[in-house]
Amino acid sequence: MRIGNLEIENPLILGPMAGVTDWAFRTVCARLGANITVTEMVSSRALVYKDQKSARLLRKNEGSLCGAQIFGNDPAIMAEAAGLALDISGCDFLDINMGCPMPKIANSGDGCGLMRTPELAEQIVREVVKAVDVPVTVKCRLGWDKGSINVLDFTKRMEQAGAAMVTVHGRTRAMLYTGVADWDTIRKVKEQLSIPVIANGDIVGAESARRCLKWTGADGLMIGRATFGDPWIFAEVAAEMAGKEIPERPCLADRIDVAVEQFKLAEADHGEKIACLEARKHFAWYLRGVRNASYYKKEIASLTTMEDIYRVAKDVVRDLK
Ligand SMILES: Cc1cc2nc3c(=O)[nH]c(=O)nc-3n(C[C@H](O)[C@H](O)[C@H](O)COP(=O)(O)O)c2cc1C
Repeated sequence: MRIGNLEIENPLILGPMAGVTDWAFRTVCARLGANITVTEMVSSRALVYKDQKSARLLRKNEGSLCGAQIFGNDPAIMAEAAGLALDISGCDFLDINMGCPMPKIANSGDGCGLMRTPELAEQIVREVVKAVDVPVTVKCRLGWDKGSINVLDFTKRMEQAGAAMVTVHGRTRAMLYTGVADWDTIRKVKEQLSIPVIANGDIVGAESARRCLKWTGADGLMIGRATFGDPWIFAEVAAEMAGKEIPERPCLADRIDVAVEQFKLAEADHGEKIACLEARKHFAWYLRGVRNASYYKKEIASLTTMEDIYRVAKDVVRDLK
């Protein structure tokens, strides 16, 4: 499959997730089989105003194609921010967020708000495509709410404006992250476009990946929340997509090794203090489904140093299975 000039087989994408898919987690997921990652969304205005914190979120990981994602609703600012995002990161493609449902974003006409102004969204894609020399992709939802589902018209416009790929999250803005993702509508999007279409929503393992691909006919898959504490989902789904045997999940000790590796990468990326704050949620996710872990989850909720992380990791491996 091709995204513009980028060649990729069986695209399997780690969904961009603010506060989750930092450079460390993307690196781990890429090692385990995500062949495309996308940075957390970054405000186009913040980039243009040279906000350093936003710029740091764009660090490109190794081991996969990596897209930089920006949001905003002003074509000129988006075009300038797109160039800056690529200069800062060296990413392989530029993704435009047209799916974020959060009121602060969507009600200001950014993120999913752009689905209510398709002509403006089109203009943004045109301007960004003109401004950069990598493929420009779009991530959107079904529409604003169930009375205004417009993803078919919307994605057609995106294609005509020059988007090289669209990812469709099969929910409306009003649904946020609840209810069942509508794969039927994703199939209709796929049927009408020539550019690659990625299906997103409710893919939680090899079985749902197989069903989603068959159901939608999509060119690839994006996985979001099911990756929390479980980057091995990529090894599983990648094997499924390649028609290979599904690998077994590693034992707890090996999983904790990977978690600690992720936290070391995070420390290298943004220092011990922030890395430890971030590790509190990731580490608890790595222990989801592990029996008798509640004592350690409490410890994790207050860890502040890398030494704390190493100590809890050692205790967990010693005491739990
Ligand atoms: C905590 C969180 C943060 C997210 N941040 C972003 C983001 O920055 N950009 C984006 O395009 N989508 C974002 N999403 C949406 C996901 O990429 C994905 O589309 C959504 O979770 C549906 O996929 P899933 O059912 O596999 O989780 C976020 C989702 C979550 C749960």
